[in-house]
Amino acid sequence: MSETDTSGHSTGARSKDSSLSMPPDEMRRLGYRVVDALVARATDLPDDVARVGGRREEMEKLFREPAPEVGRSPDEVLERAMGAILPRAARIDHPRFFAFVPGSPTWPSVLAEFLTAGFNIFQGTWLASAGPSQIELVVLDWFREWLGMPEGGGGLLTSGGSAANLGALVAARERAGNPPEGVVYLGDQGHSSLERAARIGGIAHVRKVPTGDDFAVEPAALERAIQEDRANGLSPFMMCANAGATNTGAVDPLPELAGICRREGLWFHVDGAYGGFAVLTERGKDALDGIGLADSVTLDPHKWLFQPFEVGCLLMKDPGVLEAAFNVEADYLQDVDRDSEHVNFADRGLQLTRRFRALKIWMSVQTHGLAAYRAAIEEAFELAVGAERFVRDSPDLEILSPAAMGVVCYRFKPADGTLDEEELESLNAAIQATIVDSGYAMISSTRLHGRYSLRLCIMNFTSTWADVRGTLQRVLDVGHELGLR
Ligand SMILES: Cc1ncc(COP(=O)(O)O)c(C=O)c1O
Repeated sequence: MSETDTSGHSTGARSKDSSLSMPPDEMRRLGYRVVDALVARATDLPDDVARVGGRREEMEKLFREPAPEVGRSPDEVLERAMGAILPRAARIDHPRFFAFVPGSPTWPSVLAEFLTAGFNIFQGTWLASAGPSQIELVVLDWFREWLGMPEGGGGLLTSGGSAANLGALVAARERAGNPPEGVVYLGDQGHSSLERAARIGGIAHVRKVPTGDDFAVEPAALERAIQEDRANGLSPFMMCANAGATNTGAVDPLPELAGICRREGLWFHVDGAYGGFAVLTERGKDALDGIGLADSVTLDPHKWLFQPFEVGCLLMKDPGVLEAAFNVEADYLQDVDRDSEHVNFADRGLQLTRRFRALKIWMSVQTHGLAAYRAAIEEAFELAVGAERFVRDSPDLEILSPAAMGVVCYRFKPADGTLDEEELESLNAAIQATIVDSGYAMISSTRLHGRYSLRLCIMNFTSTWADVRGTLQRVLDVGHELGLR
């Protein structure tokens, strides 16, 4: 029995024995079970299906239940989580997951997620997280250097590209003095998160600038739009360019757009959520020439930096603009450091309570080294080039956009030319659905200037040429099979 003070509270116990605590041996045993299951999953993944789906009715039957008043055995709970819930999903890191945007986290980054949760780091203020905040500054500075942005730049890590784009729009809007008839420009291939950010940010006008056959913004079209809008009494204040369009991997002409923005006094934002980290390779650096001229850049380490969800990044040439837009002082935070040396990341964005996202990036880059990242990105580029070649060499496949930043758009089109556009669309949609249902690979579709297209997005460091080739061969086989019916 521990001693108690006059209030009746224990004075001696080192740690309180709550019914929410767990004995150390039990903590260890359950933790090892989780690690073993994750390692087995990673090892078996290439032989697994790429996705397990399910209808709502089926999921309701499996999982609908009231919260239990009395806890169950942790092994039983873990069993249901690992055996029933988690596998009923797409394996985004499957080597034949080529849909949407794949993600394949490195093991050190997964361990870092576990560690940050276990240490329960609050990374909103320097006061609560000096070491972690310094690591975020270091990681942000790595990114700044990779992009070729000037010294003094900085920003913050976010939940993803959408949050980073929102931060950029709000910062640019505030910097422009919050014009009531403000206009933001993006290409017609700009990401939907920018439109959503404009809606949240109360920006009156979003103008989509047409792209050419290469899916990149035509600078003259932007210039025309700015003049037109000014003549109509509107206030253009920002251009958002693509550094790798989600649809096609296309990159807008960054140096030209930067020049227009400088001349016209517009904020130049580059959405590099999809392709930004390609700067780590020589060919990516060439493709993204001019990215360092941006006033702000969005990146998504949970894409081409092989991090687990969620982590995005907003980098600003002047992080002071971000603080001017987001910082709101509060009496209950008066004890935190208030000098420019000690960054309170909560002052730079939406979140006060923030998790320590930088550790996973730091641990994985420290463990594997940058050369491994360069090689993995380079390999994805090469696999996409191989995919384009395979499509061009197959008489019954057609390229709709060439390999760019790991993306290839294509469709099944019988060489005899007997199918019209509508028939081609429904045949290709049926091919996509058949392959997804088979579980062999996960592929998705899009529209390119209105035309239905299949799309391969290659970004996973475990994908091989056999995976890419096997998937395209399936498209051909299924196409022939369905086309013959
Ligand atoms: C170009 C681009 N911008 C923004 C986003 C949004 O990023 P997130 O899904 O991380 O919020 C994406 C996501 O695919 C993207 O490809």
